[in-house]
Amino acid sequence: MRTMSFAIICLLPTFSWAQGKIKPEQIQEHPKLEVVLPDFSAEGLILDIGGGGEGVIGQLKGKQVVAVDLIKRELEDAPGEPLIKIVMDARELKFLDRTFATTTVFFTFMYISPADHEKVFQEIYRVLRPGGRLHIWDAVFPKTTEEGKLYILYPLHIKLPAGDISTGYGVRIAAGQGADHFVELATKTGFQTAARKDEKGWFYLELKKPV
Ligand SMILES: C[S@@+](CC[C@H](N)C(=O)[O-])C[C@H]1O[C@@H](n2cnc3c(N)ncnc32)[C@H](O)[C@@H]1O
Repeated sequence: MRTMSFAIICLLPTFSWAQGKIKPEQIQEHPKLEVVLPDFSAEGLILDIGGGGEGVIGQLKGKQVVAVDLIKRELEDAPGEPLIKIVMDARELKFLDRTFATTTVFFTFMYISPADHEKVFQEIYRVLRPGGRLHIWDAVFPKTTEEGKLYILYPLHIKLPAGDISTGYGVRIAAGQGADHFVELATKTGFQTAARKDEKGWFYLELKKPV
């Protein structure tokens, strides 16, 4: 079993943090998320959206994964060996329609402005084949926030079949955002909900593009 050292990654916007625009007193710390990620079956190539950071899906599924991320540095620093890493915006995917049977979004929607979520859903729907699956893991934001807190930091313990990862994802708070928001968007886009798991501070959704 492999245990990775604790690292706070993906604390966005890092630039603002470095410039002192984000003050420590503006950050709320969430209790640690315990995320168990079992292997899952997937046909053909897997498009992983936001595959930088810890590159968790790349670590789990290796050469089946096409990892895309908005930030080059995030891809360069990501461990794991996906088939290929490509700098690409999920709001405007460069793939042809019906290219992939599976798409994964592992703790990436929390980094995308809620105003852009519908566009990203439409793009994923477009590049998925009929019958294709979209797997989403993401944070549940608290409905109310502590006074003066604009950002939230989620420490995570991720349990993969081959080992554990300890990391942290920090973002601006999108109060109340959770699985219901994504089920609503999924339905609006045309997906069917195949599975849903509500955990402490995070959720998992499996969505299906109808045949
Ligand atoms: C928490 S980080 C990494 C999560 C990652 N899936 C992992 O395994 O650690 C979220 C990533 O989403 C990326 N991201 C944010 N907006 C994006 C967009 N519009 N298109 C593609 N990637 C985006 C960020 O650059 C960042 O690397």
